Amino acid sequence: MADLKKIVFVLLFVVQVAYCKIPSYIKVCPRTHQNLSACIYDSIMELKPQLINGIPELGVPGLEPLLLDTIVIDSLGGGTRLATNLTDLKVFGASGFDILKLTPTLTKKGYNFRFDVNIPKLRITAMYELDSKILFLDLKGKGPFYANVSDYHFECIMKGHKVKIEERNHLEFEDMKCNLVIGDVSVLLDKLFERNPTLAKATNDVINDNAHVLFDEIKPGVLKAVAKRFTEIANKITLSFTYEELFP
Ligand SMILES: *[C@@H]1O[C@H](CO)[C@@H](O)[C@H](O)[C@H]1NC(C)=O
Ligand SMILES: *[C@@H]1O[C@H](CO)[C@@H](O)[C@H](O)[C@H]1NC(C)=O
Ligand SMILES: *[C@@H]1O[C@H](CO)[C@@H](O)[C@H](O)[C@H]1NC(C)=O
Repeated sequence: MADLKKIVFVLLFVVQVAYCKIPSYIKVCPRTHQNLSACIYDSIMELKPQLINGIPELGVPGLEPLLLDTIVIDSLGGGTRLATNLTDLKVFGASGFDILKLTPTLTKKGYNFRFDVNIPKLRITAMYELDSKILFLDLKGKGPFYANVSDYHFECIMKGHKVKIEERNHLEFEDMKCNLVIGDVSVLLDKLFERNPTLAKATNDVINDNAHVLFDEIKPGVLKAVAKRFTEIANKITLSFTYEELFP
């Protein structure tokens, strides 16, 4: 009798393990949860340590640093005065994000999420290539680019829809759409006039007095790259499981 119990227990255990594909670090939020917003908030916050280091088994890269694709800003289009290429972009501090507001909406197609996030401090490093006239200065050169941004505050909407992949439902997100407001920003273009340190200092001073103007030029590119990366991370997670597993 005791043996039978043991066998049944082991069988139940095996069945449960086989069906429970969601790893323990992902907290599942049932669709009928009375406070879905709070549940998803907790779920994301509990996932933070994994997000910082990355989740190799789901193909999610680590957030620290956040590596972004090359940003090309072309002075020919959109009335931009700045022609810059930023390559080898690394963003530090993204994991310090705070979710100020999160509103999930269940739709016919799946889920939409509206969220309001603040990152208190971001440090960006890159290599720049600049060929511009800005603020009456002829800026031409290349070298390391550094920027510090405080209160990187964005409001986004992420639309998710159910897709069928190999007969199973998954939630897939479209690229999220965001508005961005930032606090203070400081920028350093290193080695801009390498052979003329006085001019380099003067130029960087002018640039910093107008750091907001400069950052406004590169903001759409940075925002697009960050939004794309976050959408990729969200999709890596949601597409690894079925819709029913994630939102029972
Ligand atoms: C949901 O939870 C949050 C945070 O715990 C709380 O502020 C909010 O009032 C709750 N909403 C409802 C409808 O219970
Ligand atoms: C940026 O890169 C593009 C293509 O790689 C190049 O054509 C352009 O001249 C570069 N712009 C600057 C300012 O270096
Ligand atoms: C950014 O902040 C760090 C310290 O937090 C400082 O060492 C660095 O000089 C700052 N860079 C810029 C471009 O302001």
